[in-house]
Amino acid sequence: MHIMSIVGARPQFVKLAPISREFEKHPDLKHSVVHTGQHYDPQMSAVFFEELELPKPDRDLGVGSASHAVQTGKLMQELEACFIDDSPDVVMVYGDTNSTLAACLASTKLLMPTVHVEAGLRSFNRDMPEEINRIVADHCCDRLYVPSPTGMKNLTDENLSSRAVFTGDVMRDVVEHNRKLAASKSEILSTLSLAPNEFALLTLHRPVNTTPEALVPLLKTLDALAQQNLPIVFPVHPRTRAVLDDCDVQFSSALQLVEPLAYLDMLQAAEAALVVLTDSGGLQKEAAFLNTQCITLREETEWVETVDIGVNCIVGQDAEKIADAFQRAVSNPVQFDSSKLQQIERCFGDGNAARAIVEDIAKSFESSNKQRRV
Ligand code: UD1
Repeated sequence: MHIMSIVGARPQFVKLAPISREFEKHPDLKHSVVHTGQHYDPQMSAVFFEELELPKPDRDLGVGSASHAVQTGKLMQELEACFIDDSPDVVMVYGDTNSTLAACLASTKLLMPTVHVEAGLRSFNRDMPEEINRIVADHCCDRLYVPSPTGMKNLTDENLSSRAVFTGDVMRDVVEHNRKLAASKSEILSTLSLAPNEFALLTLHRPVNTTPEALVPLLKTLDALAQQNLPIVFPVHPRTRAVLDDCDVQFSSALQLVEPLAYLDMLQAAEAALVVLTDSGGLQKEAAFLNTQCITLREETEWVETVDIGVNCIVGQDAEKIADAFQRAVSNPVQFDSSKLQQIERCFGDGNAARAIVEDIAKSFESSNKQRRV
């Protein structure tokens, strides 16, 4: 059986790592990787393949950046050709990016069995492009691998429970596999002159936070807090960097802007930070898995369990809420006691999600009898 993974953006390279390691244990299953090229800068792509020891992609489609429709259209054309040429038995898509959307639209219209890793997440905010992508992916795909209890509930509410399997979160697998490696290999703390628990880590890349009208006041608020409370290190996504370059705005040295971090450096920085501030989905959980409290700079989260457990708090763009949460995090940091750690494990698994996924694929698609269109 030939399983083809489609990845294109930073978080998907991370999710691919435990899956591809698991496939290596199954010589009867052929696993190939297609890189769509949605992310292409070395620091957004190649560095993840190196550090996570990912297999070199079998194909690199080089699609690159464009508007949503143009990018998704190009991705669909390229992926359809690739599916027709290679005729995989199962297509595997990950997360909620435009690469996910394009892959599952192209594969399911060819009647190719398709599975979705990180299914069932909902922000209930349809202004997010990712929300549209994940709804379409879940409704297209034949098998849905779900990282959290809330994901299972969301799929039940959408009448998709018969396709859903709770597996735990592959991001937990990756963190467990790499945290020691990050501690021994990463030099990010000395490179940036940082001491554990004496800085906060910030990331921002969502469209809603990266318009000039949203980004500049948000960063000014954070800069003021950094000067009063705790320095903030800010690895800047290229989208965010482009907006800042056009804005002509200066910040104090307490808000330290740096290039995007490679995976092991990001893990090390997130583990050492006193608090993570982010609008990323993945980093909210990575923080929880690394026993670091998180402040989410969005109005909602797909990872509601992290909030219920008390390790994440949602503040959006509201300056007062951000200041309250930041000051609380600095003066009274969340303690990751055994009850919290157990709850995190109950909700997101114990680091064996990839094994459950690969075993389910081997079992479920052994004798697929779909009549394909190719
Ligand atoms: C994408 C995903 C988002 C994910 C994020 C992780 C969609 C709709 N969004 O958002 O779910 O959380 O990846 O980072 O698929 N750019 C570069 N170099 C690169 C890649 C991007 O300069 O290697 C710049 C380009 O100006 C591009 C912009 O970043 O237009 C946005 O990139 P894009 O892949 O469209 O979306 P992300 O914001 O990265």
